[in-house]
This record gives sequence, C-alpha cells and structure tokens, in this order.
Amino acid sequence: MRQKGHEYVLIIDFGGQYNQLIARRVRECNVYCEVKSYKNVTIDEIKELSPEGIIFTGGPQSVYGEGAPAIDKELFELGIPVLGICYGSQLMAHTLGGEVKTCITSEYGKTETIYDKDCVLFGADMPEKAISWMSHTDYIAKIPEGFKITAHTANCPCAAMANAEKKLYAVQFHPEVNHTENGLAMLDSFLKNVCGCKGDWTMANYAETAIKEIREKVGDGKVLLALSGGVDSSVLAALLSKAVGSQLTCIFVDHGFMRKNEGDEVEAAFADWDVNFVRVNAKDRFMAKLNGVSDPETKRKLIGEEFIRVFEAEAKKIGAVDFLAQGTIYPDVIESGSGDAATIKSHHNVGGLPDYVDFKDIIEPLRMLFKDETRKLGEELGLSDTLVWRQPFPGPGLAIRIMGEITDEKLTILQDADWIFREEIAKAGLDRSIGQYFAVLTNNRSVGVMGDFRTYDYTLALRAVTTTDFMTADFARIPYEVLEVCSARIVNEVKNINRVVYDVTTKPPATIEWE
Ligand code: XMP
Repeated sequence: MRQKGHEYVLIIDFGGQYNQLIARRVRECNVYCEVKSYKNVTIDEIKELSPEGIIFTGGPQSVYGEGAPAIDKELFELGIPVLGICYGSQLMAHTLGGEVKTCITSEYGKTETIYDKDCVLFGADMPEKAISWMSHTDYIAKIPEGFKITAHTANCPCAAMANAEKKLYAVQFHPEVNHTENGLAMLDSFLKNVCGCKGDWTMANYAETAIKEIREKVGDGKVLLALSGGVDSSVLAALLSKAVGSQLTCIFVDHGFMRKNEGDEVEAAFADWDVNFVRVNAKDRFMAKLNGVSDPETKRKLIGEEFIRVFEAEAKKIGAVDFLAQGTIYPDVIESGSGDAATIKSHHNVGGLPDYVDFKDIIEPLRMLFKDETRKLGEELGLSDTLVWRQPFPGPGLAIRIMGEITDEKLTILQDADWIFREEIAKAGLDRSIGQYFAVLTNNRSVGVMGDFRTYDYTLALRAVTTTDFMTADFARIPYEVLEVCSARIVNEVKNINRVVYDVTTKPPATIEWE
C-alpha cells in the first residue's frame, strides 16, 4: 500500500528469478517499493498509485512466445519513469515498436560492457568499461523511435537504451545482481536522478508510522501474539510493545525442542519489555505425542497440531482478544509473476491459528518488510543482538534434527553438540556470514576407539549453509581448522558421539534441514 506523503516505486514482475532482489536493492537506496505481478496490475491502479517510478523485472519468456507477459502501451504515456530490466527491457522495446530477436550468441554471466557516459544511469564515478551480469537468449535488435543505445557488449549491440525525454530506460543486464559492477549505483541514479526520489524509506520512519497505525487500529483492544523467539516474532513483539504496551500478551510455547538454554534466553530477552509474557513449558506433552514417531512429516504434523492445542488452551485463559498478531514478512506475501513454487516440506507456521482462537481481526505489521529490514527495525527498536541476529530455526525445532525417534537422551546429546558448534562458529567470526548452521544427530552408529576401549556410538553431522533466500543454498566453506576444533570438542565433551561428519551438499539437490 502506498503511504501518504512517502515515495513509492512499483516493481512489475514478469516472473524473473531476481524479482525480490530488485525490490531489496531499491529499498537499500531508501526508496519504498512493492512487487506486483503483471497479471494483477491494471493501468487504472497504476494511475491511482501514481508511483515515482516503475521497474520491469526480467522473466523467462520471449516477447514473441505464446502467452508471453505483455503490458498496456498506455503505461508509457503516463509520464512515469520506467526502467526495464532484461525481459522488461525487451518488452519495452517490443511494445514501443522496436524489434527483439534471438541472439546468435547468448550471453550468460559476467560480461564486459561499454557504457555511454552521457546516460544518467551510467554517469558520476562509473567507468566507461565494466562488468555486467547477463542472462539472455533474446536481444533488442532495433530500438524504438526516440531511443538511443546507451551500452553494448561484444555480442549484444544494445545492452541498454534510453529515451531520456520520456524518462524511459532499459538495461539488458541485471543491475540488481552483485556481479554487475556499480549496479546499485545505476539503480540509485534511476531512482534519485530520473524518478526524483529523495530516499525517505528508513526504519526510524517506518517504526514511527507503524506504531501510529497500530495504535489507531488497536485502540484499547487486546492483542495476542504467538512468540517463537525467532527474528520476526521477536521484532513484532517489540514493535507492538512500543505501540500498545501491556495490551499485548505474548504466548511463548516452549515445546522442549529449542536449542540449549534458548527458552530461558527468549524469556530473559523480554523481561524488561512492557508486555504480558506467558511461557508455557510443554515439553512433556510434546514428547508424549512424539513417542515412537520417526517419520519427519508426521513429526511436523504432530508438533503443529499440539502447538495449536497448547496455544489455544493458553489463549482461552486470557479470554477473548481483539487482534491476533502475526509475524508475516514480505517474501511470504509477494505475488510472483510466475505462479506459486512447489511446496517441498510442510512448514509449520502459526498461520494455522486463526481457526482456533477467538479474535476479531489479524494484524501483520511486518507484512511489507524484507528479512534484513525486519532486523534493522529490531535494532531500531532496541532489541538485543542475540534476537535480532538469530539464525532461522524451524518451528518443529530439534525434533527434525534428530533422525528417527526422539528420546530425552538424544535431545540432550544434540543440544550439547549444537551448542559447541555454534560457539566455535561465533569464535571464528563466521556467525553472520553463514546463513544457517547447526548439528544433526543421525540415527547411525559406528565403531570407534577411545582410550583402550571400543565404542559404538552416534555419528553427528554438522551442516552450515550460505544462502540469500533459503530456496537455494551452498555449503559454507568453513576452514578445516575450525571444523577440526568442533569435531575434537564434540567427541571429547559430548557423551555418545564418536564420529563427526560435515555435510557438503548444496540445495538443491539436498534441502537445508535433514528431515
Ligand atoms: P529446507 O530444509 O526446506 O529449509 O531447505 C529451508 C528453510 O526452512 C526452514 N524449515 C522450516 N521452518 N518449519 C519451519 O518453520 C519447518 O517445518 C521447517 N523445515 C525447514 C529451514 O530451517 C530453513 O531455514
């Protein structure tokens, strides 16, 4: 939604793989933007939104393909600056009377590009020759009338074009990708020098507006929040606490599968905040439910159901509430131009709650924020570093990191081993660069020798990945020296583990979690 008095850029998505990245980059330039699928955005809506600028994303199709995404030509007559990227650039050319053809030589990856320094996108301190990131099989063979070619490569005669008078710009390459040198500066120049944005999107502004809006909406009503201790729900709790204070009740269901000491840490983190904090220690209930269960999806389902039951029972004690707060963030709500991605695992989220709890309305104040913005907001609100920088942790917790049946003994082994791994990663200064890192207790036992004794104990797997969106991931290149210390400490300090392995699989084909 466009906020009154604030800048707004519309990103029209044609199904490109970098659609979210473009939005994040625009916001890095302190300009608020939203992504909308080309399928759902009409000219009337655009007129009403009256954005400072429009960006077209890339997309997998050819403008001549059957059912290829198209856009109403009228959009270019509105006087709103437009930047087309990749497919978006070809679509602009095609719609305005230019010609798009299949490349004789497709370009993928880093490509030397020559820029026209007179173009506002490539001016300032940028060099005339630099690397851009290409990924295309079609190219603009003839530019529309009124346009000028503003960049080229060895194989692509039109790597960028512009009609400065009409404020229409197009780039064949991807300025949003890090590999494009000065890509962010190019986007920034489009936003500031073409669209005339000042950059008024800051977390301080956002917090102030969100707090005001929450107060207006909630009035003197009661708000209920399921707090998991994860970044999103913690930031939400902090925001709501600032907005409505003790009208907020946070229910923290501790299912017993948290990491070592984590339940206490979450409780301690909110001790000084103005909220009603209810911690439910429900480990026994969850353990009883999972007794004898080893199938991962059954574990997820049972934990999800039990979570709702425990939460519901607690919520009933509070009585009717007016609002249920949810920590939904922007990547969960972006409507993609290419349709929904397949669900690989049935992720357990509190999204199932509304059917069970008596409330009038849902509030989702983080709905428009990316993960990194949620973190920034957390910092802005004064939340502790431990919570703000907490790595993602799956709802079912360690239950899906213990292969096979869960027992108390296995849970303790995993908590202790995971603790050592996390400690060593932090000591090595890798805790912010690795997206997610954790230990998995396999169901495998193998022979070892300790002192003069033969052992027959568990194999522990260490998993650490680098990722931007958790949809794909690479295994983290942890230095051998760090792995060596982890392995030695774990085998020495944790009973019943005699072998440590490191998972070197990417996602895909593997997933991040083992279950
Ligand atoms: P996968 O294993 O699917 O994980 O590659 C991708 C991200 O999702 C998290 N994950 C979950 N989160 N409930 C959650 O709330 C779940 O059941 C669940 N399974 C995986 C995983 O930790 C990673 O961040």
